[in-house]
Amino acid sequence: MSTLPFPHSTKVIAIDGPSASGKGTIAARIASILNRDYLDSGALYRLTALFAQQRQIDWTNEEQIAQLAAALPVIFIEGKILLNDLDVTHIIRSEEVGMNASKIAVYPLVRAALLQRQRGFLTARGLVADGRDMASVVFPSAELKIFLTASAQIRAERRALQLGISVNSDEFKQILADIEKRDTADRTRLVAPLQPVADAHILDTSSLNIEESVQKILDWYQIIEK
Ligand code: CDP
Repeated sequence: MSTLPFPHSTKVIAIDGPSASGKGTIAARIASILNRDYLDSGALYRLTALFAQQRQIDWTNEEQIAQLAAALPVIFIEGKILLNDLDVTHIIRSEEVGMNASKIAVYPLVRAALLQRQRGFLTARGLVADGRDMASVVFPSAELKIFLTASAQIRAERRALQLGISVNSDEFKQILADIEKRDTADRTRLVAPLQPVADAHILDTSSLNIEESVQKILDWYQIIEK
């Protein structure tokens, strides 16, 4: 943890962290408490992956995937996500789409194509944005930067609980393996790797529930608001 930029600039709270760290739930809750908009940047990578899959684009074809990313026919409406007028709210959350999202997220052209779209979510209301590179690339002048962590085991247990899967099952082992694989891919890629920036507040949620994590971030937020 280090000093926060002062005067604080962009009205953005950036929340980055690995898969299943709880950042989506925590970020959405903070946005609602502070009456701000919420950007789930991972959804854009997931949508791009799904769109590429639907169009049967070769996963190695960076240029074509970037073109799809730049022109995603997506609408976010009343808690639903429509891609080409089809409701994909649930499909994009599948593990398969998540793995494919991680695959295409390594491409600089894809990341560049999604950059302006992500910044476009910021309005006068202010934003809470979650992802992997919110603080490092998309909103480097965010007023508050949070990096969430939790052990892979704890994150796998949380995901298993969500899915109603026992921690003694083979399915659980698969979830843990998938989380570790995606962590490695996200942390070691050359472009925008998942890493805390120097002025991020590190929050290990291994022994915190959602409410406690939200409260901790709001405490930090109140300090910069003073
Ligand atoms: O829900 P979960 O945290 O597992 O994933 P997500 O936030 O929906 O993101 C899916 C994948 O998209 C991640 O594994 C990353 O590879 C990629 N991603 C990224 O590279 N940069 C972002 N800002 C958000 C997601």
